[in-house]
Amino acid sequence: MLSWEVLQTSVADCKKCSLSQCRILPVLGEGNLNADILFVGEGPGRNEDIQGRPFVGQAGKLLEEMLESIGLTRSDVYISNIVKCRPPNNRVPLPEEATMCLPYLRAQTALLKPKIIVCLGATAATYIYDPNVRITRDRGIWKEKKGVIIMPTFHPAALLRDSSRKAEAWADMQTIKSLLLRLKTNSG
Ligand code: URA
Repeated sequence: MLSWEVLQTSVADCKKCSLSQCRILPVLGEGNLNADILFVGEGPGRNEDIQGRPFVGQAGKLLEEMLESIGLTRSDVYISNIVKCRPPNNRVPLPEEATMCLPYLRAQTALLKPKIIVCLGATAATYIYDPNVRITRDRGIWKEKKGVIIMPTFHPAALLRDSSRKAEAWADMQTIKSLLLRLKTNSG
């Protein structure tokens, strides 16, 4: 199994797809390496590309509010993306780009061993568990895959575009809180 250090270097040197040619910095992910929850977005945007960190722009602020709503901060969770390099003009990653990049997320998941994976938006949910996912229909419905709970919810950027969905996203966060509590009670 790859170590975090090797993973960091592999992503820094990665030229597997053309996104590597237009990136400033790759964004592997960051957070608590012992986290129970892994949040996965789509791919770095402009701010993330400049800073080499996930969710540091407006969507990141909203993600932090979502976390705060259940008493968590960024340092309690691990945050990553389907693709590690910014797609031009923030377009949705192409299937071949996502496919090339997924082994990194799989390696991260193997190292982290999260109990819950939260898919932020359709791109994350598509590649993590269901190619036919529809977030408006499937959000908040958690599934178990190989002992890990997978939970889709709205991407914070989608909530910035349509704030009428925030109540549902906040309800999803409450579900995540109860799942965490239940997992803690069962393991303690
Ligand atoms: N949107 C994403 O999907 N990921 C980020 O890291 C930032 C914005």
